[in-house]
Amino acid sequence: MGYSDIVTLEQLEKGPLDEGSWLINKRVLIRVDFNVPLNKKTGAITDDSRIVAALPTIRFAVEAGAKVILASHLGRPKGQDESLSLEPVGARLAELTGYEFHLPEDCIGDAPKKVIHDLRVAAPGGQLRGGPQLCLLENLRFHAAEEANDPQFARALAELCDVYVNDAFGAMHRAHASVDALPRLVKDRAMGYLVTNELAALARLVESPARPFVAVLGGAKVTDKIDVIEALIARCTAICIGGAMANTFLAAQGKAMQKSLVEEDKLALARTLLARADAAGVELVLPLDVVVGEGMHATSGQQVSVNAVPEGTMALDIGSATVARFAAVLGAAKTVFWNGPMGLFESPPFAAGTRALTEIISGLSAFTVVGGGDSAAAVHEAGAEIAARFDHISTGGGASLEFIEGKRMPGIEALRKPGLRGH
Ligand code: 3PG
Repeated sequence: MGYSDIVTLEQLEKGPLDEGSWLINKRVLIRVDFNVPLNKKTGAITDDSRIVAALPTIRFAVEAGAKVILASHLGRPKGQDESLSLEPVGARLAELTGYEFHLPEDCIGDAPKKVIHDLRVAAPGGQLRGGPQLCLLENLRFHAAEEANDPQFARALAELCDVYVNDAFGAMHRAHASVDALPRLVKDRAMGYLVTNELAALARLVESPARPFVAVLGGAKVTDKIDVIEALIARCTAICIGGAMANTFLAAQGKAMQKSLVEEDKLALARTLLARADAAGVELVLPLDVVVGEGMHATSGQQVSVNAVPEGTMALDIGSATVARFAAVLGAAKTVFWNGPMGLFESPPFAAGTRALTEIISGLSAFTVVGGGDSAAAVHEAGAEIAARFDHISTGGGASLEFIEGKRMPGIEALRKPGLRGH
């Protein structure tokens, strides 16, 4: 199913009469995914790429003369938790845009209503003394009703707006109130630029990708990736597997992985996936060598063959022969999807495999997509120049995987409209 029944920002701005901006003075609630990583000690934002990726839609709405309300979750708070307030996100947003922001203490009720009523909006084409203002709602998950998809909470959010825009691709797979129940209550709803771009790029992986199609999967657990491995076996030419999840496959082949993280209860599943890939003619490319350390806090590593992992050590990165093997498989690819780091990349002795993959994939002439989460963080860490060489870096971790698995996503379904134009 395509997305032609979802209103775009351009269609939204035209309105029913197709005259000027229909959005002038309208209260537009934009559901964004400002769930950014925070430094555990200082609370500072360590990667603002999700904020930056939402800016085109925010600017569009501001410049169209709308009263802009931003709504997001941050982390997984149990009730009110000041360490997960959106205040630092608002400060970063103000730095990036020059817009002033107001953060009412609660995301529903009289406090946001008053702020929204008083918002200064941009007059299209004209200058605005003091610049535009935004209303940033406080963390939606301070209310348990958000994750419960509570209709009453959704109604309270709907009271704040005339128009709903979803630009939170990273949260599209969640049937939560601001993603699922709320848009169904708002007649005029649309997708933002970030979501439009994500759908276009990820759809290229699902709908007849150019072949050879090579996937690179990493991360800790096979459990988290079963569905995506199965979906990729149906579509890929080869799947390179690194990170701790590779240990489970290697152990399933009888290798002694010593202290390495191995999901003992998933060995049979790993064998089944290897057999399924084999039957489908898809190569599952496993590490030939690994970099081992004495534990997660090891300060140095040693490169060894997967047939000779020393006692008392654990695999924490892929080795150079594996990097070369993955590079050879990737060299022929026309489409590449990468999700999950190759090792404990946040620790310098075990970062080389992930860094090498970043460089190799960025240098390919294939259509290259990085699924969100840690692998996206690794690409951003490699610098803007390398990041720019990827065709698409998804802002969604779990969401991009579910999309590739072919699952229906509540946030996308809630935007669909049978007659397209509602106004
Ligand atoms: C993400 O970071 O993947 C999204 O913001 C969704 O967050 P969640 O996994 O806590 O629902």
